[in-house]
Amino acid sequence: MRDTSLQRVVIVGPGALGCLLATSLCRMTGEEIWVLDHDSQRAALLQHSGLTLERGDHLEHFPIQATADPQRIGPVDLVLLCVKSPALGQTLPSLLPLFTKKTLLLAWQNGIAHLSVLLGAKLPGAVALAVTSLGAHLVGPGRVRFGGAGATSLGFLGEASPEARLALQEVAELFRLAGLATQVEPDIMVQVWNKLLVNVGINALTAIQNCENGRLLENGEALALMRAAVLEAASVARAKGIAIAPEPVARTIAVCKATASNISSMLQDVRGNRQTEIEGINGAVLAEARQLGLPAPVNAKLFAAVKGLEKGYLAA
Ligand code: PAF
Repeated sequence: MRDTSLQRVVIVGPGALGCLLATSLCRMTGEEIWVLDHDSQRAALLQHSGLTLERGDHLEHFPIQATADPQRIGPVDLVLLCVKSPALGQTLPSLLPLFTKKTLLLAWQNGIAHLSVLLGAKLPGAVALAVTSLGAHLVGPGRVRFGGAGATSLGFLGEASPEARLALQEVAELFRLAGLATQVEPDIMVQVWNKLLVNVGINALTAIQNCENGRLLENGEALALMRAAVLEAASVARAKGIAIAPEPVARTIAVCKATASNISSMLQDVRGNRQTEIEGINGAVLAEARQLGLPAPVNAKLFAAVKGLEKGYLAA
């Protein structure tokens, strides 16, 4: 068994990313892995049937411990928070039975809307952010299709004790051993914005066009909107003094290619008639642009279009 303080891990939210992370960690021995789901029927199904990972034609099955009751799990060393950002406000208070002062929470949401919610939650343990360009598609309850490899960056949201810093390094090591390219970053906000720019260019457009990520590159109009939306968001980031990586449009196109057959998380939400993360992605860019007095007409257009899609099913 590895020498690690990460003995008990819980993945909150068995969506596409949550299931992908759970299946990756299930490959490891030594850690006790749980899935926490707000839906007790689905939790019972996962407990009974386990998780399945589809990778091309290859299927892998993993037994898993799943529950809707955080009291049943009790305090853990690591919480991987994989619910979508609109669900965060409701989810965080219910997680308290999982925490001691030593518990590290790693938040995997897209966009930037979750940052203020996490800061306001005053959790007992340290809070870190995970920024990933892994692609994953939920095919059915507990059944996930690998949607493309991508790097993952981890870093603290605010101050962290030396113990928490050590724990985060151990988490990165655990993920690397589980086959996920992972590194700890000194300034995670740079990665948060680098990823935000990619999501700004891909997610809303795939939801509007109802297409896989790679199809955006075959559509001249979508490609032009992608470029414009990413450049607007990059101007906002630079005006805020965030040292984003160069060539944000080229990076977005590269992620589109690497996850070409993936159904973006936003399109998965639209197809599942769920609230999307549009507020924290194009909506957040729009809000920041307004505050800075910068134009963001393409983000405004994408934001309004996805809100229109949501209105069609959320009101029903
Ligand atoms: O949100 C998503 O779907 C993912 O962040 C990404 C990288 C765009 C792949 O689909």
